[in-house]
Parts: sequence; C-alpha cells; structure tokens
Amino acid sequence: MKKILVSPSILSADFRALEREVKAAEDAGADLIHCDVMDGHFVPNLTFGPLVVEAVKKCVSIPLDVHLMISDPAKYAPAFCGAGADILVFHAEAAGGIGEVRELLDGIRAAGVRPGVAVNPDKPVSLFMDALDRADQVLIMSVYAGFGGQKFMPEVMEKVRAVRKAALERGLDIDIEVDGGVNAETAAVCAAAGANVLVAGNYVFNSGDYAGRIGAVRGAAEKSYKEGLL
Ligand code: DX5
Ligand code: ZN
Repeated sequence: MKKILVSPSILSADFRALEREVKAAEDAGADLIHCDVMDGHFVPNLTFGPLVVEAVKKCVSIPLDVHLMISDPAKYAPAFCGAGADILVFHAEAAGGIGEVRELLDGIRAAGVRPGVAVNPDKPVSLFMDALDRADQVLIMSVYAGFGGQKFMPEVMEKVRAVRKAALERGLDIDIEVDGGVNAETAAVCAAAGANVLVAGNYVFNSGDYAGRIGAVRGAAEKSYKEGLL
C-alpha cells in the first residue's frame, strides 16, 4: 500500500511561535509540513515567501511540502527550491499552457526538488494530464485556494479518481494530495478515491491535540485507502 502522509498546513498555526508550532507538529507525527504561499494576485490573500520557508526548514527534519498559490510560478520556483522546499507544487492554471507545466516540472526536478502540480476545484485535470509523467505529486484542491477553514468539496474526488486511474494505466508512481477542509471524516473520502497525501490546517492547528488529530486523519485514511483501479 502507498504510504499515507499527513501534511499539516501552517496557515492555521500561531505565527508568533512558528518554530514551536512546526516542531510540535513534527513531534505529533506529521510526515510533511505544508507551507501555503499566496501572492494576493493568483488568490485574494497574502501569506509569505521564501524567507519563511527557509526559516521553517531550519526548525524541522521532516520534508517541506510547499504549495505555491501565485501567478507566474516559473519566476519564483527557483527561489523556493533554494529556500529548502522538498516538494514544490504550483497551480497548472497559473502556468501558460501545458508546455510551461512540463518545463516547470522538469526545472523543479533539475533543482533536486520533487515537482508537483495543482488545480483549483473549477479547473480540469486536462491542464496537466499530458505532463503527468514529469510529476511526483498531484494536488487536487478540495476548496478554492486562498483561505484555511473552508468546507470540503466532495465533488472534486472525481478528479482524484481520474488521476489515480491515469497513473495506474501509465505505470506512474504519483502521490495524490488533497488540500482543503480535511478532517478525519473527509480524509476517509479522499483516501477511498485514491489520495494518499492529506493536508490539514485548521483541523490540526486549531485543536489542542495535534497528535490526536494527525493520528485521526492517518487512521481514517489508512482504513479507507484503495489500491488499484477504482
Ligand atoms: C487553502 C490552502 C490550504 C489550507 C487548508 O488555500 O491551500 O492548505 O490551509 O486549510 P484547512 O485544512 O483549514 O482547510
Ligand atoms: Zn495548501
């Protein structure tokens, strides 16, 4: 079975004590730390850039799963690779067509970082499907990118299944990530559709029990994860 990975999003962490927060998530069993980069242009919200990614990198030893919600990802991807991203995911709809999606995935890999591509709920997987062989991870957004604490959209599971099917048919080993509104209940829905990387911001960081919440996501996902064609 593909390993289930829980990736707490620091978007919901207490930024006054970011070091303590990410270390607590790591100690609580997080597999990855999800860093949400927003530019106030691709999404109507602003967060942080490579400087914060670099700081988080110094605090934990688990890999950083960096999610770029920015226009012109090609311009900034090198800075995030240099800042210590272990996985770097950009939005396909922010790239200028399939050629640029391919180039970006290849460029990120050439920098020694695992490349990933994302789509918002209203965007089709056809934006990246022809470049699937270049990606290590696909991120299917289950809320509109921009804010934490939104409601999970189960209808995007159709896209998770489509990516899973294509990966299996083409013999590709791809991690499928779902981001937005993930809790123990919705994690089970994601894993049943074939997702193995679960992002959880609000559910983990706005709780008093990070280990309990991370464990609940992992447990629910492991129980319902489906191998093979669905
Ligand atoms: C949304 C971000 C998510 C978000 C998830 O734009 O990409 O990573 O932080 O937060 P929750 O888990 O609170 O929906
Ligand atoms: Zn995210």
